[in-house]
Amino acid sequence: MYSGRVNDTDTQSRGGHRWFAAVYDRLQSRAERGPMGRARRELLAGVRGDVLEIGAGTGANFEHYPAEARVVALEPDPHMLKRARARLEALQRTNIEIRLAPAETLPVEDASFDIVVSTLVLCTVSDPAQALAEIRRVLRPGGRLLFIEHVRGTGVLARFHDLIRPAWSWVSAGCQINRTTEQAMRDAGFDVTIEQRTKAMPILPVIIGTASPR
Ligand SMILES: C[S@@+](CC[C@H](N)C(=O)[O-])C[C@H]1O[C@@H](n2cnc3c(N)ncnc32)[C@H](O)[C@@H]1O
Repeated sequence: MYSGRVNDTDTQSRGGHRWFAAVYDRLQSRAERGPMGRARRELLAGVRGDVLEIGAGTGANFEHYPAEARVVALEPDPHMLKRARARLEALQRTNIEIRLAPAETLPVEDASFDIVVSTLVLCTVSDPAQALAEIRRVLRPGGRLLFIEHVRGTGVLARFHDLIRPAWSWVSAGCQINRTTEQAMRDAGFDVTIEQRTKAMPILPVIIGTASPR
């Protein structure tokens, strides 16, 4: 298990989204039985060493971590965190620990993780540039960010995303549908490799891949 210090930052919680947390697994269930579940499995199958997951939500990734990985999963929403803890208990996985913390202030030491995992999180964090700077800080030399993120479309779809962003954010607990996350990763000093471009829904382009600090 990660041997450094992890501060439990309960005081940084901003109340969370009780109802979104309550319906999240049901909203996702079809995708999880199909392409999303497959994408998680493929992304995480080979991870080893010290792994930090940001915005773990209800813990949808937990079952996909190999036993060899030592995982610290962070989540800032207490309602999500409660569900993640229940899932972890049901799975009886001892190689995963969960803490309350946002991605913008990771409560861990510099250069202390081999892998950071972000799935459907960089669309929602308050400050993606700060979160990415934190991810860079905590990765060891040679470490990588593994991601599955939905991103702003192109052409007409991009303009549609801009238009619906406020309403989408309201119903999706702050998710910004028009984030240009691939560019944000490059701007934050990562080399980005996209393994797959796919769609979560017809209107939701998704990028799956890895990013390594330059
Ligand atoms: C769409 S959910 C994705 C949950 C999970 N990663 C998954 O793949 O199912 C977005 C998650 O990001 C979390 N989140 C919101 N703001 C955050 C922040 N500033 N730092 C880290 N996570 C955040 C939310 O609480 C929520 O759990």
